[in-house]
Amino acid sequence: MVRGVSPALETLLMPFERGEIAIPPRALFLGAEVHPAFEEWPQVTGWQPFKPLAVEWEQAGHGRVDTPAGTWPVVMLLPGKSRDEALAAFAKAYDLLENGGTLVVAMANLAGAQRFEKELERAAGKIVSLQKHKCRVFHAVKDGDWDAALLAEWRQLGALREVDGFTVEAGIFSADHIDPGSALLAEHLPKNLRGRVADLGAGWGFLSRMALEKNPDLKEVHLFEADARALDCARKNLTDPRCQFHWHDVATGLPDKFENVVMNPPFHSGQSTDIGLGRAFVRSAAASLRMGGRIFLVANRQLPYEAELDELGLVWRKPVEDATYKLLFAEKRLERTLLRSGYEGQAAETQRSRR
Ligand SMILES: C[S@@+](CC[C@H](N)C(=O)[O-])C[C@H]1O[C@@H](n2cnc3c(N)ncnc32)[C@H](O)[C@@H]1O
Repeated sequence: MVRGVSPALETLLMPFERGEIAIPPRALFLGAEVHPAFEEWPQVTGWQPFKPLAVEWEQAGHGRVDTPAGTWPVVMLLPGKSRDEALAAFAKAYDLLENGGTLVVAMANLAGAQRFEKELERAAGKIVSLQKHKCRVFHAVKDGDWDAALLAEWRQLGALREVDGFTVEAGIFSADHIDPGSALLAEHLPKNLRGRVADLGAGWGFLSRMALEKNPDLKEVHLFEADARALDCARKNLTDPRCQFHWHDVATGLPDKFENVVMNPPFHSGQSTDIGLGRAFVRSAAASLRMGGRIFLVANRQLPYEAELDELGLVWRKPVEDATYKLLFAEKRLERTLLRSGYEGQAAETQRSRR
């Protein structure tokens, strides 16, 4: 296996490597991820809603589309994790195929590959399947025999829907409920916020909307989110002109300074837990704070963000902790910052002059 390439992607390419499917003059890749083999392909166009992977795809020199259109001789698909998202993606891929074109799907066994293969078989009638790397790749040709009613049902699963008055879409974070951790943070957000707020990993916009509802005098709210689909929902959920939307990888830092940061940081990359991502969020938040600025964070109790806040020289407290979540409120104070950068004397002076 090529280093850094997901097992599902390695498996996806097997039917091409084995000559079961000819490499087409042009192909569409839904959920596009980079593989060196694509350098030999005449043309692969990618759709990738997750910003860090979209950037990698473009940096590898491939074309990328925000909204796939037209029809293609081959559509490759690495579906997302949720059932509705995966089935909706099957229908979308079908719609993007030329007549006689081939749909190729790969999934990890742990993500339910066998179950989804059966689903595709129900729609397509016949499929060809291979297994390797604890994944399955299955492909089907678009002929006249697909089950139109089933495809129509699957298309519906990908349509925008409503949760407690918010627009959401299958596959994005918390697509069928308000996250209880975010609800806890919203309940405890202060009502005296001023200036500008950054909402990191803003999802479909719940925390931003709550921040605005509790703090009508806020100047601007900036939503930073890596999943383009979630951000599109947030645009529908927040029509207030003070909101600005950024398709952005928060781990790379923020382009501006803020008085307030709200966040429920992600702690998963793909299927696995990735505390490093949450820590990167905390670092980006701290670096973007103006002096006196505050971070309002919710996390699962066991996630060790306190050490990170200490390391960054922020003053923090834990106003709420329950069986599952904790809230951490942190502040960037001058004296702590000076202490951390080695100006102990100056910091002591600052403290004395304040007394
Ligand atoms: C725990 S969810 C919180 C979502 C939203 N704030 C809420 O309260 O419902 C974390 C969010 O971070 C987003 N995310 C993951 N990695 C990211 C990254 N590198 N940069 C920006 N957002 C990211 C996810 O797509 C997800 O929407």
